[in-house]
Amino acid sequence: MKKTKIAVLISGRGSNMKALIEACENPKFPAEISLVLSNKADALGLDFAKSKGIETATVSHKDFSKMENPRESFDKKVSEEIENRDCEIICLAGFMRLLSPWFVNKWLGKSINIHPSLLPEFKGADAVGDAIKAGAKVSGCTVHFVHEEMDSGPIISQAKVDVLPDDTKETLAARILQQEHKIYPESLKKVCQNLSVSE
Ligand code: GRF
Repeated sequence: MKKTKIAVLISGRGSNMKALIEACENPKFPAEISLVLSNKADALGLDFAKSKGIETATVSHKDFSKMENPRESFDKKVSEEIENRDCEIICLAGFMRLLSPWFVNKWLGKSINIHPSLLPEFKGADAVGDAIKAGAKVSGCTVHFVHEEMDSGPIISQAKVDVLPDDTKETLAARILQQEHKIYPESLKKVCQNLSVSE
């Protein structure tokens, strides 16, 4: 069975990355993780990836800050690392960098992201906090293709999570995270299957 090579981009804990790695361990799963890349050398997720024998790389955005076009220069280096491993699909999993239009267009239809809200509700960095502040009764998570505008792009899958009256940001985020770990591997599977149909 041909497995699609995946690059996972992280900045921290990497629990979604872990869910993707574990899904890929199933011989019937149509993807394999060929690279875990972080913009932070101390991202916890890197240790887990290494413990599974997965190749890792760190590209620090700080190394590009003095360049003429820092964001795009960083993105070009990241893209090069991904292409060097022949990856076809990119999974953003808590990658805390805004991607340049150059990167987004280069990987259009090939890069996906997970966000802890039912998009288009509560875009942005504090989606869970914003859902609580707004008094939402239901929230959840979304896997979507990456487009230029942050937290936009065609939706691949969503899961709903009830917001309970005594929920804090932490308790709600933890229940949403459980759903993230289910829908991210399912969505990746769907994307890989569609890829092999279109080839
Ligand atoms: C998740 O809540 C995800 O939805 C968001 O960033 C968080 C990453 O968590 N994009 P983890 O690093 O995968 O544990």
